[in-house]
Amino acid sequence: MQRPNFRYVLLTFFSLSTCFAHKYEECRGSMYPPDGPTFKGNVTWYTVNLDLPPSERWNHLMKQKKSELLSMIQAIKDLAGGFFHGQILDLVDNKLPLIVDTLPYPFNEEIKGIAVVTGVPLGEVVLFNIFYEVFTVCTSVVTEDVKGNIYHARNLDFGLFMGWDQKNKTWIITEKLKPLVVNIDFIRNNRTLLRSTNFAGYVGILTGIRPREFTLTTNERFNVDGGYIGILEWIFGQRDGMWMSFLTRRVLENATSYEDAKKQLAMTKLLAPAYFILGGNRTGQGCVITRTRVNTLDIWEIDLKLGRWYVLETNYDHWEDPFFLDDRRTPAMKCMNKTTQANISLQTIYDVLSTKPVLNKLTTYTSLMEVSTGKLESYIRACPSPCTPW
Ligand SMILES: *[C@@H]1O[C@H](CO)[C@@H](O)[C@H](O)[C@H]1NC(C)=O
Ligand SMILES: *[C@@H]1O[C@H](CO)[C@@H](O)[C@H](O)[C@H]1NC(C)=O
Ligand SMILES: *[C@@H]1O[C@H](CO)[C@@H](O)[C@H](O)[C@H]1NC(C)=O
Ligand SMILES: *[C@@H]1O[C@H](CO)[C@@H](O)[C@H](O)[C@H]1NC(C)=O
Ligand SMILES: *[C@@H]1O[C@H](CO)[C@@H](O)[C@H](O)[C@H]1NC(C)=O
Ligand SMILES: *[C@@H]1O[C@H](CO)[C@@H](O)[C@H](O)[C@H]1NC(C)=O
Repeated sequence: MQRPNFRYVLLTFFSLSTCFAHKYEECRGSMYPPDGPTFKGNVTWYTVNLDLPPSERWNHLMKQKKSELLSMIQAIKDLAGGFFHGQILDLVDNKLPLIVDTLPYPFNEEIKGIAVVTGVPLGEVVLFNIFYEVFTVCTSVVTEDVKGNIYHARNLDFGLFMGWDQKNKTWIITEKLKPLVVNIDFIRNNRTLLRSTNFAGYVGILTGIRPREFTLTTNERFNVDGGYIGILEWIFGQRDGMWMSFLTRRVLENATSYEDAKKQLAMTKLLAPAYFILGGNRTGQGCVITRTRVNTLDIWEIDLKLGRWYVLETNYDHWEDPFFLDDRRTPAMKCMNKTTQANISLQTIYDVLSTKPVLNKLTTYTSLMEVSTGKLESYIRACPSPCTPW
């Protein structure tokens, strides 16, 4: 087992206090096209024009999503206020705006533009943009079919420990994030450069595709030397690491091939440890890059000769067992194995990602990507009880 950390303590405490344990279900089948109680809706497409000045790029989208963003931020403030009697909010409103200018261009300008167009205080938009480094669990998979097509898919699970609604049996922030999920066409010179699924107001990328070239998702990696330390160092002036989701977006904008993307993701110094899950456009091109803040521990690739036709990552190093109270890897792999390479497709991957606890109460969306056609499909998810909290 991996070295225990703060997260294990919280998972154990929450499990004990709710008498909860992971229960596995049979692998799902025929869930696609999405329908029924685990499907909450399609995701709407927007365009972000990279040829506009950064401060204006998000105006159109944010005008539409302003009230959803306000509602989400209010929920976070209610939660934080309840815990720390408002001191945290003072910090966010008065101190966080100062760090926006330390963030790399164009992200600093984009964040300022979002604050202006929505009227949300700058510190709160900054908070939303650095948030991801702390509260997620996820599942990502890259796989190859027998014809050599590469597929890449993920569940994005967000909001762990951020307010449990006892009555509705939901995570408060997770529910507030669902209406913020958007698909984005990033265009440059009047053509699509990349596509992503984002939370409106968040300028980094967690799920993205460069059509016909590569696909990329990130999962959080917990470690004692985790995101908190990197963020604190940044605030106190040591700023040589890159924010994970900013790096992801930069790679999607600038890398021109799978190999180029892999090199950038493996070599750039980070603020927090991470997993990068990368898919290419040729046979064998799929990998999980396990990162510490400064170096790369491992690159685990699809290898058909070894019978490895997919690589799957949750939030634990692949060479170690997952924490027993948070094992989404075993059920996901069991269902991938049961599907077999002969029958793998976006449809059957959606089935795998719809099986509890791979699908759980933190799951905000499921994304399916096919590099050869440039297709990105995302669906808002729900997990009605009985369903595991993570
Ligand atoms: C989602 O999109 C699909 C395909 O475009 C459509 O058939 C379906 O009715 C939509 N569902 C909802 C709930 O909007
Ligand atoms: C709980 O569910 C009810 C009914 O679906 C809904 O009206 C209410 O807003 C939910 N509460 C929260 C905090 O999400
Ligand atoms: C962008 O593309 C659209 C449709 O393809 C075209 O109508 C428009 O003239 C183009 N604009 C520029 C600036 O090239
Ligand atoms: C795969 O990506 C490479 C590098 O970007 C590109 O040169 C090549 O044309 C792509 N192959 C296909 C089949 O699109
Ligand atoms: C799935 O198959 C792989 C490769 O044969 C094997 O290493 C792994 O243990 C299997 N996992 C599960 C959960 O069945
Ligand atoms: C292959 O997947 C489809 C769902 O896409 C399923 O209906 C079918 O039974 C599967 N075939 C086999 C041989 O498992």
